Amino acid sequence: DLGAHPDHMAKEIDEQPGVVADVLARVRHRTADGSTWVGLGLPPFDRLAVVACGTSLHAGQVIANTVRSLGGVPTDTVVASEVEHVVLGPGTLVLAISQSGETADVLRALDRLDDRHPVLALTNHVHSSLARRADAVLDCHAGPEVGVAATKSFTAQVVVGVTAVVSALVASGRLEPSRAVALVDDLARLPERMAAAAVVAADRVPLLAATVRDAPGFLFLGRGPGLPYAAEGALKVKELSYRWAEASPAGELKHGPLALVDDGTPVVVVDHGDPRLQSAIAEVRARGGFVVTIGGAGSDVPAVARPADATDLAWGRSVAPWGPIEAVVPLQMLARELALQLGCDVDKPHDRARSVTVR
Ligand code: M6R
Repeated sequence: DLGAHPDHMAKEIDEQPGVVADVLARVRHRTADGSTWVGLGLPPFDRLAVVACGTSLHAGQVIANTVRSLGGVPTDTVVASEVEHVVLGPGTLVLAISQSGETADVLRALDRLDDRHPVLALTNHVHSSLARRADAVLDCHAGPEVGVAATKSFTAQVVVGVTAVVSALVASGRLEPSRAVALVDDLARLPERMAAAAVVAADRVPLLAATVRDAPGFLFLGRGPGLPYAAEGALKVKELSYRWAEASPAGELKHGPLALVDDGTPVVVVDHGDPRLQSAIAEVRARGGFVVTIGGAGSDVPAVARPADATDLAWGRSVAPWGPIEAVVPLQMLARELALQLGCDVDKPHDRARSVTVR
């Protein structure tokens, strides 16, 4: 039932604050005391390998950044279809992420991995093939996702995943419980931030999309914790608008991708308040590129408006290890609006299936 929404993608984007609030209500009290992790019954781990595809891989990159930066745990993110080129050391826990739990590349990757590695599944379908194959399962609790483009499942994967790794780090003594409490408190404000981001984006995105819709291609830039969101924004544009969209670390621009920037080339910058993004923005503008900043206070499409006396993990002070989660809302809305203005079906892009069960 679409209710007042014009399509499933719009509905699922709108549902995100509620999904995050629901997830946090389930896991909040079990995060800072380590009990989420203990309840999974998995052995301790020294390394983590995240295995996934597409949007789930981007969620995995956010989770990997979190476990690395908070716990110093060596972590690999592995594109599921490339697993045979990866060597996993002893003591590695495999975190397999799949909204559907039926993605053939992910299931095949697990078949190819050594049985010694315990597998934790993060999925929206707890009776899926992935869940059956795993040693323990984390439910995303995103509810049914009908649109082919993954939206609310991404944010649910991120929130369930980062709270689970925070819990694991507390349980293993790598993270102080008081720090975990502060991190979870920061996440608790996410529903409100996402809802506010959607209101601003609804106002600004239609005109932005109209300005850039005739461009043949798009560049998305980010840095550090902002990078998975840039990659996610680019994937959504490709999948829905059939336009090329490349995501690049901002620092890599000068090593090649800048050559793509010409008069009017749209360059979407995920701005999480890192001043080092400014030099990339200046390089793009010097070549005539059309810069759209998304995320930070004062950007073209801000995802957050911080009070001057903010004392939490807000942008502009220290960045949360999971980066600018709320920035995904304007990125999803931009991709959807662009696709609609180009006459594309946002719920059923051509040649795309809800879950990819072939390899
Ligand atoms: O069901 P999965 O999470 O395993 O699907 C993986 C990808 O096929 C999927 O995330 C795809 O990239 C999305 N449709 C992108 O919006």
